[in-house]
Amino acid sequence: MDGVRGSSLEPVVSVVETRAFGTIASIGFGTLSATVWQRDRRLEQDQRATYDQGEWAMFTGVDCKGDDMDASRWAEVDAYISDVLIPADPVLDGALEASRDAGLPAINVAPNQGKLLHLLARIQGATSILEVGTLGGYSTIWLARALPPTGRLISLELDARHAEVARTNLERAGLTGVTSVLVGPAIGSLESLAKDEAGPFDLVFIDADKPNNPEYFAWAVKLARPGSIIIVDNVIRNGAVADSDSEDLGILATRRLNEAMAADPRVSVTEVQTVGSKGYDGFALALVVGS
Ligand code: SAH
Ligand code: DHB
Ligand code: MG
Repeated sequence: MDGVRGSSLEPVVSVVETRAFGTIASIGFGTLSATVWQRDRRLEQDQRATYDQGEWAMFTGVDCKGDDMDASRWAEVDAYISDVLIPADPVLDGALEASRDAGLPAINVAPNQGKLLHLLARIQGATSILEVGTLGGYSTIWLARALPPTGRLISLELDARHAEVARTNLERAGLTGVTSVLVGPAIGSLESLAKDEAGPFDLVFIDADKPNNPEYFAWAVKLARPGSIIIVDNVIRNGAVADSDSEDLGILATRRLNEAMAADPRVSVTEVQTVGSKGYDGFALALVVGS
């Protein structure tokens, strides 16, 4: 980072044509841009993601873009990380393209976050995974690829259209044998899974509607075992989580979740702030230590 900041780079303005939203102008810095911006396709994705998040923010009331200059630097560095460490992958790229073509919001995890989920699942040796919030199945593919052929992943999705896009993406990924997408409000599906004794799950990824996060977490612990891990996405929301005056339902719920986790002797929890192509946010990581 220091190297980049210290090298007095020429600001450049790039204009990128995006299929969905026309022309978006963005300011970057000379040398960094020269290497990073060769991958137009990825940059285009990142910029579209940032744009979409702006639209999504109008809906949720929480803006996760951060300062414009910071946000474009974060997106550039995410593109750089992906270029170096995450080889282009026709299945994952195709899943994002199909999701975009179907009009789904670009609120999937970033590629480097998807790979983090994948690595956590492998570190965990997970054979059973539960996901709350499927969207087009992008994070689902990253997670399911960590499973052995005998493993299983269940993903819960409210929107039948999202689930359909995800199923097609999972089929293209060759993952239909290990994955299933259950349609309906996640709380109902979680109740059914508990009733059917479908657990325990080795890893739970919670990434759906934020106001229900305390309930999702409570169900996740019930469906886990000591040694399971639970990851919750979007717990920082541009820092809004630290605002004790926030009236946003998602933030209020995240603060309730944090207090519940802190008071729960069955889990040991931390949270990490993240910046990147998806703005400024973060995730919670919980280890189930007791039942
Ligand atoms: N995990 C995905 C992104 C999920 S976006 C990825 O990273 O690729 C959040 C998803 O949660 C959306 O598809 C939305 O339709 C779904 N969702 C919203 N409310 C829900 C609910 N009550 N039950 C289940 N899913 C819900
Ligand atoms: C939203 C949801 C997400 O899961 C995400 O990663 C980003 C935004 C949202 O509902 O605003
Ligand atoms: Mg998320």
